Amino acid sequence: MVVTGANRGIGFELARQLAARGDLVVLTARSLAKAERAAGALPGARRVVPVQLDVTSDRDAAGLAEAIRAHSDRVDVLINNAAIHYDTGQRAAGADLGIVHEALETNVIGAWRTTLSLLDLLRRSEHPRIVNVSSGAGSLQDMGSGTPAYRVSKAALNALTRTLAADLRGDGMLVNAVCPGWVATDMGGTGGRPVTDGAGSVLWAADLPDDGPTGGFFRDGRAIPW
Ligand SMILES: NC(=O)c1ccc[n+]([C@@H]2O[C@H](COP(=O)([O-])OP(=O)(O)OC[C@H]3O[C@@H](n4cnc5c(N)ncnc54)[C@H](OP(=O)(O)O)[C@@H]3O)[C@@H](O)[C@H]2O)c1
Repeated sequence: MVVTGANRGIGFELARQLAARGDLVVLTARSLAKAERAAGALPGARRVVPVQLDVTSDRDAAGLAEAIRAHSDRVDVLINNAAIHYDTGQRAAGADLGIVHEALETNVIGAWRTTLSLLDLLRRSEHPRIVNVSSGAGSLQDMGSGTPAYRVSKAALNALTRTLAADLRGDGMLVNAVCPGWVATDMGGTGGRPVTDGAGSVLWAADLPDDGPTGGFFRDGRAIPW
């Protein structure tokens, strides 16, 4: 099980829940120090492998696959969780395109890059799953004003989810986008639901049976509009 952006927030909770049930977890973070610190804080630390992965780095992505091969011949689940720039302070009309570019580089290309680097290892799994942590903010049906970099990046991540799902269906790989709901993290702020619930919404897609859906968009196990 590989989780990106797993040193805090929903990603850390995902790693915690996976480790607690005995899965071998590759806990990735932007720096090795962050990954090691987070891994060390988990009770199941023995089965948690900390690896450096800045999702914007080709070098880190290549290093991730290499690091995993030292522990396992396959990856069963990739959870593309890392994301930035919930840009509440801007509007599309007048947006700082530097922020937009960074959001796309991390939230879309980062997930894409990580996926490509692990495809060979995922293909070795008997039940491969890719879970893209998206957001209702990326739903075109609900698309409105505000947080433009974030919204556009999550809509693009949803498109990536569908096209990857179509490409990988023949490999028996289930690829879905999942919204964790509004969750109380650094990104979500106060007032959201607990990380345990947000992570649960994501893990549902990691645990799908072989005849489960692919190319869908879900929250708490229920389909939500694109
Ligand atoms: N919280 C919510 O209400 C909510 C709602 C809908 C969807 N989501 C989605 O849920 C996911 C997790 O969100 P969260 O609330 O847990 O956010 P968070 O608390 O802000 O954590 C984000 C994580 O992503 C990592 N990250 C950022 N840029 C990265 C990069 N270039 N490479 C690797 N890691 C990077 C961060 O690492 P650093 O510590 O190094 O910055 C951090 O570990 C995101 O995809 C988010 O869009 C959240």
